[in-house]
Amino acid sequence: MITPFNIVILAAGRGARMKSDLPKVLQPLGGRPMLAHLLEAVRKIEPLQICVVYGYGGDQVRQVLAAEDVTWVLQAEQRGTGHAVMQALPHLASSGVTLILYGDVPLVTQDTMRNLTALAVQDCVALLTANPDDPTGYGRIVRNDAGAVTRIVEENDADTATRAINEINTGLMALPTQRLADWLGRLRNDNSQGEYYLTDIIAMAVADGVAIQTSQPAHTSETAGVNDKIQLAGLERQLQHDIARNLMAQGVTVLDPSRLDVRGSLQCGRDVSIDVGCVFEGDVVLGDNVQVGAYCVLTDANIGAGSRIAPFSHLAGATVGQNNRIGPYARLRPGTELAAEVHIGNFVEIKNSHVDTGSKINHLSYVGDSTVGKQVNIGAGTITCNYDGVNKHRTVIEDDVFIGSDTQLIAPVTVGKGATIGAGSTITRNVSGGMLTLSRSAQTTVSGWQRPNNKIKE
Ligand code: UD1
Ligand code: CA
Repeated sequence: MITPFNIVILAAGRGARMKSDLPKVLQPLGGRPMLAHLLEAVRKIEPLQICVVYGYGGDQVRQVLAAEDVTWVLQAEQRGTGHAVMQALPHLASSGVTLILYGDVPLVTQDTMRNLTALAVQDCVALLTANPDDPTGYGRIVRNDAGAVTRIVEENDADTATRAINEINTGLMALPTQRLADWLGRLRNDNSQGEYYLTDIIAMAVADGVAIQTSQPAHTSETAGVNDKIQLAGLERQLQHDIARNLMAQGVTVLDPSRLDVRGSLQCGRDVSIDVGCVFEGDVVLGDNVQVGAYCVLTDANIGAGSRIAPFSHLAGATVGQNNRIGPYARLRPGTELAAEVHIGNFVEIKNSHVDTGSKINHLSYVGDSTVGKQVNIGAGTITCNYDGVNKHRTVIEDDVFIGSDTQLIAPVTVGKGATIGAGSTITRNVSGGMLTLSRSAQTTVSGWQRPNNKIKE
C-alpha cells in the first residue's frame, strides 16, 4: 500500500528581491503564475491533500488561483519557512509523510517528488540537494567526516568555510509527519534573521538519531530558486528550451530553439516549421505542414493543415482553415474564421468575420462583423464601416463578388452573388447580384487650367 502523503507548498513570502507589487509566486513563467506550474506537477503525483501557505499579497494570490482545489492556509506574518509549515500542521493527516515544496522553486519534476516521498516512508528525512555552479544565497549542506548530513546552515549564518561548501539545500524535503510536528514545536528563531528556519529541523533529526537521506535532481534547473528578475528570466529560458526540445523531438522544425516562446499549450501536426522570434500564447494548434514565418504572435489560434503564416502576423482568437496564405503583416482578431484556400495579405485586419473558401483580401483592408462568401475578391483599401458610433452592423458579401479597391461598405449591407463594385465606391444600400454597381462622381477635365509656377512672395 502507498503511504498517504501531504504536500505543503510555501508561498507566503513577499519576494522583496523581485522589487514588484506582484507577489513572487504569481510572477509569470511561460505565461502562467509560477505557483500554477508547481500545482500542476503536484496534482499528477496524487497526494492526499495539498496545502498552500500564503500570506503576502494574499487576496491577489487567492483570486488568481481561485479555481485551484487546495487547502489555503494563511500565514499572516512571514516569520520564516519553519513558521510557515507550522501554520499548515493542523491541516495535515498526522500519519504518513509530508512533502514540503517552495512556491519559488517551480519546475520540480514528478520523478523527483516521488523519489523523495518514497525515501521518507522508511522513517527518515529525505532531502533534495544539488551542486550548482554558484551556491551563493542557498543554505549549505554540512556533512561529517563519514559523509553523513549533520545540519543546514543558511548563507547569512555561514562562516567563510561553510560558504565554500558547494552542496546546497534545494528546499525540498519529505519526512514523517509526526516527527515534523515534534521538531517544528522545538524550533527557535535565534539566528541572523530572527526567523524560524525549517532547515534547523535537520540538526534535530540528527540528534534524535533519525537518518537524513539525500537525493539529487536529474537536472539542477529543476530546483533553481527564483528570487529576483534575473533568476526568473534564467528559468524562463530554461523552460522555453525544454519546450523547444520537446517540439523538436516530436518532429517540429524549430529554426532556432533559443528564439521561441510558448506561453501556453502548442500542439503541432507533422512537418510543422516555426521560424525565429514567434510567440505562442493560450491554446494554439498548428496542423500538418503548417509554416509559421518569423516574428509572428499567435494567441488561441487554430491553423489548418498546409497553411502558411508569413512573417510579422498577429493572430488572436482566430481559426484558419487548410492551405491559407496569411500575411506578412496580417492581423486576425477574435471571431475570425477562414475556410480553405483563403488569402489574407499585408496590413489586412479581420475581426468577427467568416470568410469562405478561395476568397482573397490581399492589401490594406478592414473586414469586421462580416460574412464573406466563396471566391470573393476584395480589392486594396476596402473597409467595412461596421460601427455607427453606437451599434455594430453586419456586412454580407455573397459568393463570387468582386469589390474594387478603396470601397467603403456602410453596414448593414448585403452585396449579392456575383456582383462587381467599381473602385472607389461608397456603398450604402444593398447591391444586386450579377451586376456592376459603383458610386463615383464623374471625372472632369478643366481645360486651360494652369499649374502655379511662381512662388508667392511674402
Ligand atoms: C530557502 C532555504 C534555503 C534553501 C533555499 C532554496 C530556509 C530557512 N532556507 O532560502 O536553505 O537553500 O530556500 O531555494 O528555509 N516562505 C513562507 N513564509 C515565510 C518565509 C518564506 O511561506 O515566512 C516561503 C517563500 O514564499 C518561498 C519559500 O518559503 O516560496 C522560501 O523562502 P525564501 O525566503 O525564498 O528562502 P530562501 O532565502 O530562498
Ligand atoms: Ca527562495
